[in-house]
Formats: sequence, C-alpha cells, structure tokens
Amino acid sequence: MQRLLNEALQRSNGYLNSLNERPVAPRPEAVAALKRLDEPLPASQSDPLQTLAMLDEVVSPATMAMAGPRFFGFVIGGSLPVTLAASWIAGAWDQNAGLYNSTPGVSRLEQVALRWLIELFDLPRETTGSFITGATVANFTALAAARHVVLERVGWDVEADGLFGAPAITVITGKEVHPTLLKSLGMLGLGRSRIIRAAVDGQGRMRADALPPIKGPTIVCLQAGNVNTGAFDPFEPLIESAHAAGAWVHVDGAFGLWAKAAPALRQWVTGVEQADSWATDAHKWLNVPYDSGLAFVRHPHALQAAMAVTAEYLPTETPERNPSDFTPELSRRARGVEVWAALRSLGRAGLAEMFERNCRQARRFAAGLTAAGHEVLNEVVLNQVLVSFGSPEHTRKVVDAIQEEGTCWCGITVWQGRTAMRISVCNWSTTDEDVERSLQAMLRSSSRPD
Ligand SMILES: Cc1ncc(COP(=O)(O)O)c(C=O)c1O
Repeated sequence: MQRLLNEALQRSNGYLNSLNERPVAPRPEAVAALKRLDEPLPASQSDPLQTLAMLDEVVSPATMAMAGPRFFGFVIGGSLPVTLAASWIAGAWDQNAGLYNSTPGVSRLEQVALRWLIELFDLPRETTGSFITGATVANFTALAAARHVVLERVGWDVEADGLFGAPAITVITGKEVHPTLLKSLGMLGLGRSRIIRAAVDGQGRMRADALPPIKGPTIVCLQAGNVNTGAFDPFEPLIESAHAAGAWVHVDGAFGLWAKAAPALRQWVTGVEQADSWATDAHKWLNVPYDSGLAFVRHPHALQAAMAVTAEYLPTETPERNPSDFTPELSRRARGVEVWAALRSLGRAGLAEMFERNCRQARRFAAGLTAAGHEVLNEVVLNQVLVSFGSPEHTRKVVDAIQEEGTCWCGITVWQGRTAMRISVCNWSTTDEDVERSLQAMLRSSSRPD
C-alpha cells in the first residue's frame, strides 16, 4: 500500500508541476494514444504499480489542464492544495457518509461546514443543507423540497402518492434558465416544456415586471449568475412579488451565490437570502475537487420529508442529524471534507480575495480585448466575459486557434443570437501574469489571417 501511495504522490506532483507549462488542451497524439486503453479485461492479477503507471502515462497527457491556471472554459474551478490533500485523507478513510451513527466524524465535520456556509451566504439560520454531486443535483434536491411544500399546502402528499392526480404545479423560470435546471424539473415530474419562461433583458436577467400572475401551487426559479454573462436576476422585487402570491422561490446560484461571500460583489445578490431554497457548486468557484455541490433549504422538514428513509438494518435512530435525511443518496462519499478544508483554510478574507481577484481578472480580459478593437458583449459584473471577434465564422476560427495554440483554453457560445468566445475565470491559482499571457495569446490568434 505504502509504495503504491508514494508512487501516486510522485506522479500527482509531476502532473501538477506540469500544469503551468504544458499546453492546456491535450495534444492530438495523446488523445490518439488512448487506444492503448482498449485492451481485453485481464484474465489474472498484475502488479498494481503497472496499473498506476499506465494511468499516468496514457491518461495524464490526454487530460485537459482544467486544474491549471489558464483554463477558462465552461465554469470550472481547480482544487485548492488543501482540498486535494484533504480529499486524499478522506479517500483513505473511505467513509460512507450517509448516517451519523456509523460515521460520526465526517457527519459532524459536514454539520460544521454547513453552518459556516449558511453564515457565509447569510441565509436564514434555520436553513439546512446537503452535500451532493453538483448544481444539477442541488437544484433537483432543493426543488424536491419545493414540490413537497407547495403540494402539502393544498393537502397532497407527493412522496406517498406521487404526481398522478395531484393538483398541477406552475413553474416559472427566466428565459435564460440553465438547461440543467429544466432537467431537474423533468426528473421531478414537473416537465421540461410546460414551464412558463419569463422575459429577460439583454444580460439574461429576468425582468422585474415579467412575473406572470401567480395562482395555486407555484415554484419560481431565479438565477444568481447566468452561465454566459454572469448576470443576476433582481431578487428583491421578484421574491417579494412571488412570496406575496404564495409561491416558493428557488435560486440556482451554481457559481453566482458565492458573490454573497465577497464585499465587492455582494450588491448583485441583495435580497437573495429571502428565497426558500438555493443551489450552488463547490467544484466551481470554491475550488474543491470534483464532484461537489450544495443544496440549501429554509424549511428543514420539507427536505427531510422529500429525502429521509429508514430500514430495520439501518442505525438511523439518533438525536443527531443523519446526513442522508437530506440527500437523494443513502450512500455517498464524505465530500463535505474538502468543502470544510477550503472554508477553514481560506477563511472569510481568503474567500473574498479569491472571488474578487477572479472578477478583476475577468475585467482585465474585457478591457484588453476591447482596447484591441474586439466587442465584449456582456456587462462584466462577475467572472464571465463574452467576446465577439467579428462574424460567427471568424469568431469560431479564432477560438479554434486559441485552443490549438495551447497557452489557454476558452469555449464558444451563442449569446442571444451572437456567436462569442466565453472566458470564465474561476481558478484559485490564476495569477495576473497568467491573464496577461493568455490575453496576448488571444490577440495573436485573433490577428492570424483566416
Ligand atoms: C447556472 C448554472 N446552473 C447549473 C449548472 C450545472 O452545474 P453542474 O454541472 O455542477 O451540475 C451550471 C453549470 O455551469 C450553471 O452555470
């Protein structure tokens, strides 16, 4: 075991040390070499060191350097060193974090991390939460609690009786809702297509006057951080109107909710704490290893009603909190360990510095690209930048060239009809020098003849 873990440590260090200089995208030769993996299932045992060597020699070169400082695709954070190290220890523990009685250590640790998060986001203190795989499942989890409550209010027990014959639930989202929220609604039997999609502005914010009249069981889904523009819905007026009409308000804050933890960004999420539930990711901007998401619900009984189960063989009897009473899974890894480690080691000041630095770096990208004559399509309020290099074809060519050149990696999108490159700055290790290096690479690629 020890030799194997030492070998893993060395190989991991080698990989991490390569991140600063290797091309961000894997080279085509490395991707082609993946065919070495297509071997038959071995008939007998072999030296585990050989297996580790193959993993590192074949797969490491074919990874995207997402953990590195110049990956700006999708919305992807790296892993703070303390979170990777904590993850190794948690891996050694191999706890099934479902029940307090069988895993008191990690259950208690996760409770502390949840309390810190609720304080950090300034959510109502009665709020409860859960550690799940990501924002998709966080939305699913929180919306299961929402579904429970809006039907309970009209006398329907959805967990017992399902949705057949249940009173209809109206669901309202903005037109620029993230597709995974629609998927979550679909998984809950609320349908992806029957949702009312309210009007948004040019930044993707739901318009404050766009809420349709609300009657009967209703869930309103707002957004903190649009995946393209980073924009925030106007929470105060929307939550007030939705609540006045008796609706449940859920907020998808996959990365934007973290604005609440930074004094310079907090203005964008004013009033978000008035909602009933919230979803966010830790594997994005908190920079913990995949996979890690967080759901928060103001009404603990609702989440528990939606999620808790027991059985004769399960030691669920305890005055303590059973984590699996609040998650879709019974068995799961103790992913709260890495969240705890990030919060404990950065503290409020370290968290605010990381979020504010990434936003400043996004603004620097926007300023540098604008100065070179390119059009930035969004108001850069957070860590997302959308830039057009001209025609859709030319923009696509420039993005291809940037990806191929390898200094950095950005993706492509179409924002309200305009083709654009997306820059998402989320990594703890991105320095201002990385930004300048990447900017120069972008400008070089944009001036290459077609
Ligand atoms: C606003 C929003 N919601 C949900 C998601 C889905 O998150 P995950 O991929 O962690 O499930 C994303 C991903 O970028 C997002 O930006």
